[in-house]
Amino acid sequence: MREGTAPLIQRLDYQQPPFWIRKVDLTFDLDPAKTIVTSKMQVERNRAVPHGPLRLHGEELNLLRVLINGAGVSFRQEGAELVIDNPPDEDFAFEIRNTTCPEKNTALSGLYTSGGSFFTQCEAEGFRRITYFLDRPDVMAVYTVTLRADKARFPILLANGNLVDSGDLDNGRHFAVWNDPFPKPSYLFAVVAGDLVAREQRVRTRAGKDHLLQVYVRRGDLEKTEHAMNSLIASMVWDEARFGLPLDLERFMVVGVSDFNMGAMENKGLNIFNTAALLASPATATDADFARIESIVAHEYFHNWTGNRVTCRDWFQLSLKEGLTVFRDQEFSMDMAGTPSARAVCRIQDVRQLRALQFPEDSGAMAHPVRPDSYSEINNFYTATVYEKGSEVVRMYQTLVGRTGFEAGMKLYFERHDGQAVTCDDFAQAIADANPDSPLTTRLDAFKRWYSQAGTPRVKAHGEHDAAARTYTLRLSQQTPATPGQTDKQPQVVPIVMGLLDRHGVALPLNANGDTEQVLVLDQAEQTVVFENIDSEPVPSLLRGFSAPVVLDDGLSDAALLVLMRHDSDPFNRWEAGQRLALNRILHALRAGQPLQLSNAFIEAMRGVLNHADLDPAFKELALTLPGEAYIAEQLDVVDPQAIHAAVMAAQQQLAAALRDDWIAAFEANQIAGGYTPDPVSSGKRALANLALSMLVLDAQATGDTVWPGKAYQRFKDASNMTDRLGALAALVNAGAELAAPALERFHALFKDDALVIDKWFSLQARAPEVDGRVFARAKALTKHADFTLKNPNRARSLLASLCMFNPAAFHRADAAGYVFWAEQVLAIDAINPQLASRVARAMDRWAVLAEPYRTAAREAVARVAAKPDLSTDVREIVERALA
Ligand code: ARG
Ligand code: ZN
Repeated sequence: MREGTAPLIQRLDYQQPPFWIRKVDLTFDLDPAKTIVTSKMQVERNRAVPHGPLRLHGEELNLLRVLINGAGVSFRQEGAELVIDNPPDEDFAFEIRNTTCPEKNTALSGLYTSGGSFFTQCEAEGFRRITYFLDRPDVMAVYTVTLRADKARFPILLANGNLVDSGDLDNGRHFAVWNDPFPKPSYLFAVVAGDLVAREQRVRTRAGKDHLLQVYVRRGDLEKTEHAMNSLIASMVWDEARFGLPLDLERFMVVGVSDFNMGAMENKGLNIFNTAALLASPATATDADFARIESIVAHEYFHNWTGNRVTCRDWFQLSLKEGLTVFRDQEFSMDMAGTPSARAVCRIQDVRQLRALQFPEDSGAMAHPVRPDSYSEINNFYTATVYEKGSEVVRMYQTLVGRTGFEAGMKLYFERHDGQAVTCDDFAQAIADANPDSPLTTRLDAFKRWYSQAGTPRVKAHGEHDAAARTYTLRLSQQTPATPGQTDKQPQVVPIVMGLLDRHGVALPLNANGDTEQVLVLDQAEQTVVFENIDSEPVPSLLRGFSAPVVLDDGLSDAALLVLMRHDSDPFNRWEAGQRLALNRILHALRAGQPLQLSNAFIEAMRGVLNHADLDPAFKELALTLPGEAYIAEQLDVVDPQAIHAAVMAAQQQLAAALRDDWIAAFEANQIAGGYTPDPVSSGKRALANLALSMLVLDAQATGDTVWPGKAYQRFKDASNMTDRLGALAALVNAGAELAAPALERFHALFKDDALVIDKWFSLQARAPEVDGRVFARAKALTKHADFTLKNPNRARSLLASLCMFNPAAFHRADAAGYVFWAEQVLAIDAINPQLASRVARAMDRWAVLAEPYRTAAREAVARVAAKPDLSTDVREIVERALA
């Protein structure tokens, strides 16, 4: 946010604050051009640390006055800080008055306007853009907030907690007073003011308490809030049932805003959501949107305990709340999905996400531990590592101590730390102490390396069967690659959930108890396990359910993978075996520099999955989707994005042609009669029908057939829900069909007034498979489209992140035009919204592994951006790490 070279903040430099702020009384005179903020604080010295001046954070503020105990006081402004050199020794009343300009706040941090209403975003350090404060998470205060604004323009006035007073003022203005009884850090503060409407629901919990739930949105969006409200209620029920955690407020509010840097924010009692993560109707949102909304509503609601009641001592501990809360929302989604197969589908999707986003991060310039050691801009560390790998770390606790053990650990965590700002160590200790005899507790120090070591561990497994001794010896080894600033790595504690199958797919007993599944704990660089009474060479099924965030190399033959794919009792590993078969083919072709040729065995296996009588459509869709290009790139030392893309396209083409009749059958068998519901069974059918359709249109492009493109166009026109409509449109666009252009035009005309749908329109075009540079040219031209703007993060991401981060073949060009475009866009966004710019900047994280000519050109583009003197610290940190 601040400009110039940013100091590096170190985790080990943590010190308690020299003062505590216990109570805050805030008054806002809201005006888009000039809002006046009056802050009355009750301050006391922290006697645990040496005497010092009172230094408050502040950014982009105009200071009007400073009073201590009602009298003027001498102060100075040092950089962005307000310094009082000689504050009283005893507790004192501290008053500050300042102004801010919400309508000019395009960074969307602090108090800003969107669509004529006021919103705030304070995590991580936005509160200092509202008023001067000790803006750090270990300073927790009770807030009372008075909002005053024009009643006609801003009829709704919201803040955290409970409404205690409201009424009219002179000159058409009105006011509302809110009190939040729970002490909270400033990052959880929020206000909203505007012309909004709410869906309301009263609920009574198991504990017999009544609550008012409200979802506030712009007029006209109310009918798109039903799914969010249902998700909120389901989240409340789940958290009470699974973890015994009830809602602690009478009122719980959720608000949607169109301009928002992230998905959503867990402000106490007043969650603020990107409308993209909140609004859904069958006509405008896809099944994936419905699922994502459910999980984000749950995520923010779950933060009320994991984040708000127990918060982070400092920002290095971010994964304490984020990793844990992602784990909780993933568990919730699985429980909501229901059947074992639907749960597995959730798990596969989460792992795919981890591999597509976190694995590349962990092997690139921005690699950092789940608990980072240093940062210059904390907003750059809201990452896949802190969130998704952090969640995998929490999942490993649960695997090591068991589900009930984990619940006991959570209970102890809240007993010890409710109302506190704590560290990842405190969490680890609570889980361990609640499970004194577990394999976690005996290795706690080693387990905690998951917080301190960056990089994805490589685990190797090699099995040997001794027919005479009837034993099977599994040799395991592990190694974590070097990452920036961390060259020597120590072994991690890796829980490996596993089983053994005979070659007919029958599960073998692993021990005298007859167990067919167990958890091996790999905690050394090399380890050997011997299984007795094994008559013939078994097929090992390792890392079931993806029990640890590692890359596993088990050296299994295609024949062994086929056994797993057909027979493993673990659906995750059945899916994984199919992915590995495809990956092996693709990697072989890439390494040999040969055109890709799928084997008959692979094609027949895929046919078997597609036509299987018992497998769910959702599972089939995942199994028949080839590994992503980013994940394939992860397996290679030198990355040629064009070669990878060509191999994946060839594989897809062959799968489309070889299974043509089966795709037709799958398409026809998965039509749904009746109304739309986003349940797992129907969405699985729609997903498989859409995949089949895209394969059929792709094949038609190759053969010159016009029937399937025509059918796709018809389906696109007639669709009664967005999943089918967008699926048919994508089939045409991704195949480069002639009907794509009229379909895109029609789609735009149909939805021109719905920003979230127009985002899909941009994104689909920017993500289309590249052919002869046409996709890049089209995406570049779209930056000049009347609907395009860099000011709205959803819109900017829909085009720029889609192209630069999710379409490697369109982005990485021999003529470097993609990199030139990237540099221009990053600089242009940086002047408006540094957080957004730095997200897009990360498209170059892995320039160093690119093949030539991409590598040199990419580095030059990064260096050009880095040479700009007035970059935000956000972007500066990203480009400097990339060049380091
Ligand atoms: N705590 C929010 C969530 O995960 C995300 C807020 C991120 N804010 C930021 N400035 N990076 O739900
Ligand atoms: Zn979160």
